[in-house]
Amino acid sequence: MIYSKITSVGGYLPSNILTNKDLERSLDTSDEWIVTMTGIKERHIIDPNETSSDMAYKATLDAIKTSKKDLKEIDLIIVATTTPDKIFPSTACALQNKLGIGECPAFDIQAVCSGFIYALSIADKFINTGSKKNVLVVGVDAMSKITDYSDRSNAILWGDGAGAVIVSASDKPGIISTHIHSDGKYESLLHVPRTKNLSGKDTIEMQGNQVFKIAVNTLDRIVDETLKANNLKKSDIDWLVPHQANIRILEATAKKLDMSMDRVIVTIDKHGNTSAASIPLALNDGIKSGKIKPGETILMEAFGGGFTWGSALIKY
Ligand code: UT7
Repeated sequence: MIYSKITSVGGYLPSNILTNKDLERSLDTSDEWIVTMTGIKERHIIDPNETSSDMAYKATLDAIKTSKKDLKEIDLIIVATTTPDKIFPSTACALQNKLGIGECPAFDIQAVCSGFIYALSIADKFINTGSKKNVLVVGVDAMSKITDYSDRSNAILWGDGAGAVIVSASDKPGIISTHIHSDGKYESLLHVPRTKNLSGKDTIEMQGNQVFKIAVNTLDRIVDETLKANNLKKSDIDWLVPHQANIRILEATAKKLDMSMDRVIVTIDKHGNTSAASIPLALNDGIKSGKIKPGETILMEAFGGGFTWGSALIKY
């Protein structure tokens, strides 16, 4: 059996920070409401001329810095994003060009906030079959480019960033299992319809309250599915590295796992919801801060537009 293992992590966040106080100046909202209802204090916003592939490139260089692998050893690039640089070609191809590592295959995955879990799952399968040895998986989103900053229920939530991991073939288990699902019937609860008017940009529309309730229940089920598939007890999980959508959703999943919040990697206060980037950025934070140690068992889970959802159980 060829296993796959995350051997290196990296992240990138744009330097421009948008605080709750900044939002108070243009919206009918308050720092207190945002912190209480979401846990978010600030988020990073990219420059207008910066793109998702620029952020992906910087996150990849950060991952390579601490990797024993050379860029030339990457034999597959998968980018999870909802905010591609262009309609085509893929952001993965744009990233490949910036990295100067043709001619390995490169493609994008669109599963919104669950994109990183989907991409990791695909990387795992390519490695398990012996077809690839070192896969670059990037979760990147420039959510500010599709946010309506006059809509207070959306403007407060989203942030920009990129997280990258290198997944390599290993003789010991790293990625233990992945579980992915979708249900397209919920499409209209969280989506970006095509532009309604020619001058406008396409922006996120969300029935936040309904999404919230379905997210909590669905994440409950994915936790059960992951534990059952691996014959594990809740206490076998050392760390929860969740998608960062709302602190109250994170707390509900931690409660489901009988886990105290100090075993949950929380970045939502500083990053907001960075969609596909949120899990690799949180993993990067957990590892680089020294909280997550080699050999520990980590549960990652996500829920997003589609609806899509999924989990990955890994040993770091
Ligand atoms: O990552 C993908 C998945 N996404 C999610 O999981 C997001 C899930 N949803 C959420 O996180 C929450 O629904 C929100 C944080 C977006 C909103 O919280 P909520 O408890 O669902 O609030 P709500 O939409 O039911 O609105 C409650 C009230 C409303 O006022 P009224 O009608 O009761 O007078 C809203 O207009 O809160 C109001 N409100 C705000 N007030 C101050 C909505 N946004 C704001 C705001 N500041 N920014």
